[in-house]
Amino acid sequence: MAVQTFSRDYSLSGGHSDAVELDGDRIEQRMEETWWRPKLTRQQMREIMQRRDGPAFLHFGLWFLVLAGSGYLAFLSWGTWWAIPAFLIYGTIYTSSDAAWHECGHGTPFKTHWLNEALYHFNSFLTLREAIMWRWSHSRHHTHTYIVGRDPEIQVTRPADLLKILMDFFYLRSGPPEVWRVIRNAAGRPSDHVRDFMPERELPKMYLSSRIYVAILLAVAAWSIAIGSFLPMMFVLLPRFYGGWLHQLLGLTQHAGLGEDTYDHRENTRTVFINPVFAFLYMNMQYHIEHHSMPMTPFHALPKLHAAVKDQMPPAYTSLWQCYKEMIPALIKQATGQPDYVIPRPIPKDPETEDAEVASAPEAAGEWIEVCPVEDIEEEDVIRIDHGSRTFAVYRLKDDRFYATDGLCTHEFAYLADGLVIDGVIECPLHNGRFDVATGRALRAPACDHLETYPVERRGNTLYLRIE
Ligand code: FES
Repeated sequence: MAVQTFSRDYSLSGGHSDAVELDGDRIEQRMEETWWRPKLTRQQMREIMQRRDGPAFLHFGLWFLVLAGSGYLAFLSWGTWWAIPAFLIYGTIYTSSDAAWHECGHGTPFKTHWLNEALYHFNSFLTLREAIMWRWSHSRHHTHTYIVGRDPEIQVTRPADLLKILMDFFYLRSGPPEVWRVIRNAAGRPSDHVRDFMPERELPKMYLSSRIYVAILLAVAAWSIAIGSFLPMMFVLLPRFYGGWLHQLLGLTQHAGLGEDTYDHRENTRTVFINPVFAFLYMNMQYHIEHHSMPMTPFHALPKLHAAVKDQMPPAYTSLWQCYKEMIPALIKQATGQPDYVIPRPIPKDPETEDAEVASAPEAAGEWIEVCPVEDIEEEDVIRIDHGSRTFAVYRLKDDRFYATDGLCTHEFAYLADGLVIDGVIECPLHNGRFDVATGRALRAPACDHLETYPVERRGNTLYLRIE
């Protein structure tokens, strides 16, 4: 078979020569035009996105228990042959910190915000993903999933590099560059790739965080040298390598072999059923189409989301085996004769449902515009109001307190009315940025710029909004 000539520029800073050409305006236009979203009622979405601390306490309590238990057994086995299986188990659990990094980065496991943040930083260190940089990288991944030249997290590029894929079962190809990236960032010399998605104002935070990582890793290395034993490094840093197999096994199922340059996650992402032990360690990320379609969904609600939208998705793979049976030949094709090959996925026809209602306020007579009857907004909820070319979000909090802000997130292009109101805070549906509803203040990256706020007045049973 003749090998096809095929090359794609996956770099972010390389000019995107064969990428979908997307400049700022067209990104917005294209996202608005083509992002596929599951059809759910607002009520269903609110129920699914709802945050609770309980399931996360249970999950992380058990996770820390098995991590500590396996670590203790590994410690006891040091110097015997039992150390091999013991450290393999410890390293596998340690590396599942990647799933916790991911979930806490989205800010969804706990309702209590600081718990998500604390565990995000802890797990970022364990999984060797420097917390500040990876937050921005992952935001970009969600905006432009598998868009060549835009997504910094394309795991399998084409033509596929099979050796890299195999080596990364022990993090041997991606790990050393990742460590080097932390060192570069600690030295205040990020690459052009990193600069492409990191805002300038976040760089000092990234430098500081990277320096802390380097300091801890050097301390562990110095400890190992001082006692003449690898043991300390077997517990910190090295587990990410020798325990990386499960992370790679599950991570490849997310997107490998599937489409690129599409804004329909059903074409570039998979959902795969896995056993309960893996699902626990993976924090339900096997529901990956669902996660990309609604990143605000907490890990424990993903099965519920799947049940609600499965008829709108390609069929889930029933097992890892079924998934790999299709993926391995596809990756071999991509690596050898057919680098342009992608696995086609059957996309069901969307059900005929009404799109979510968007209130359209009449043209203003003066500064105040009529919004809607009070009962059109549930308590602790938000609706979108379009007025001419502008869009607003009008909120109803507990005790009939009403507020209004700009309707679009200040980070990228997302309607805040598709997000979730939690205790007076609106969480953006795209990257989980947060804003105080009453003041418009940005509370959580990647949302950094504040929202404009607008007065809302209740007159009888009707709400009015004053546009300035
Ligand atoms: S669009 Fe990124 S946080 Fe809102």
